[in-house]
Amino acid sequence: MVMNTAPPNGTKVELYNQLTSELASLMEGETDFIANAANLSALLFHSLPDVNWAGFYLLKEGELVLGPFQGKPACIRIAIGKGVCGTAAQRRETILVQNVHEFPGHIACDSASNAEVVVPVIRDGELLGVIDVDSPLIGRFDDEDAAGLNRVAEVFISHVARASRP
Ligand code: SME
Repeated sequence: MVMNTAPPNGTKVELYNQLTSELASLMEGETDFIANAANLSALLFHSLPDVNWAGFYLLKEGELVLGPFQGKPACIRIAIGKGVCGTAAQRRETILVQNVHEFPGHIACDSASNAEVVVPVIRDGELLGVIDVDSPLIGRFDDEDAAGLNRVAEVFISHVARASRP
């Protein structure tokens, strides 16, 4: 299995190009939602530098519920509109947080986290959940990460089968 390999001096665009192509290979021929979400979490966690948590919260019966992830155990349920994840889900937009301690209502799952990016996962207008990535480094994520992770989410959505959604 191919895993990580961001060139040390490569640009973020190159890194996300590589990541999306690795994701497409990993998911080739496999449409199971949970299996692909689990592999995507592992790919993000091991490929992105300075990341301490990467994974999914899935929309179930009107709230976000912890899905496949890599990192320390995390809070299980997040109401829509709460925390960074619930806010991204409510607005259906990517949220970049340079310093989580300055984000009102931020939910601290791992005290090591200082920056966060949350990308909504939307298929045909339906919100399925969010992808959340945390870092110990303040200011770790920027617009290039947001754009790259949105491409990653698109590749994910394009592969998973409708029927396999949990
Ligand atoms: N910090 C998130 C909660 C999830 S953990 O970071 C894994 C939030 O405020 O929604």
